[in-house]
Amino acid sequence: MGQVGKLQKFADVTAFENCYERVAELKGKWKTDVFKNDNPITVELACGKGEYTIGLAERFPERNFIGIDVKGNRIWKGAKYALENNITNVAFHRLMIGNIEEYFEKGEIDEFWITFPDPQHSKKRKRLTNAMFLNRYRNIAKEGAVMNLKSDSTRFYEFSKEIIADQKLTILQDSDDIYAWDEIPEHLANIQTFYEQMWLDQGKKIKFLRYVI
Ligand SMILES: C[S@@+](CC[C@H](N)C(=O)[O-])C[C@H]1O[C@@H](n2cnc3c(N)ncnc32)[C@H](O)[C@@H]1O
Repeated sequence: MGQVGKLQKFADVTAFENCYERVAELKGKWKTDVFKNDNPITVELACGKGEYTIGLAERFPERNFIGIDVKGNRIWKGAKYALENNITNVAFHRLMIGNIEEYFEKGEIDEFWITFPDPQHSKKRKRLTNAMFLNRYRNIAKEGAVMNLKSDSTRFYEFSKEIIADQKLTILQDSDDIYAWDEIPEHLANIQTFYEQMWLDQGKKIKFLRYVI
C-alpha cells in the first residue's frame, strides 16, 4: 500500500475510536468513560507521532496514557498502531496545550511527559515548561504529580532548571547525557521518538529531568 496522505490521516483520526478532538464533555470522566478503570493517567504533552505514549503504555499496562498534540496527522501514527495492536490503555487527544484545563479536571492527571519539545529559542512564552504552562498543568494534576522532560536542547534544559529553581520544585532525576548514565531506566533508553532519533544521528546529547510540579 502507498503512503497515506495528510488529508486521509485527518479523516482517519476523526474516525478512530481512540482519538478525541477538543472533547470537553470528558473532563473528569477519562477513567470512567474512556478507560473504564481506576488506573492512574499519564499525559504526554506534544506527543507528535506518539512513540512515548505507546512505548510507556506497552510497558506499564496498569496505567492509562493520553497523547496530546495539535497535529492530527502526527497523532495518526500512534493511534493506528494502538488500534492494530489492541493497546487499550492509550488514547490521543487533539488540542492546544494552552487550553488543557478545559479538557481535564483538577486532580485527574497523575504524571506528565514532554519529549523533544520545540525549544522556542526566541519565544519564552511558548516554552512548554515555563511558569504559565506549569500552572495550567498543576490545575489538572494530582497532588505530587511528576513531570518527565527529555530534550536535546541545552538551552531548553537549562531554562527548565531555572524555572524549577525559581519555584523551589523537587528534582527527582537529572542528567545532561542520559546515555552516559549508569542507571538509565529501560524505558528512558529504549523508547526513542522520531525527533530523538534525528538528534542522536546528529550526535546530540540527550538530557532528562524528572521533577515534582
Ligand atoms: C518537535 S515535535 C516533538 C514531537 C515528539 N514528542 C517527538 O519527540 O518526536 C513538537 C510537537 O509539539 C507539538 N506542539 C507544539 N506546541 C503545541 C501546543 N501548544 N499544543 C499542542 N501541541 C503542540 C507540535 O505539533 C509537534 O508535534
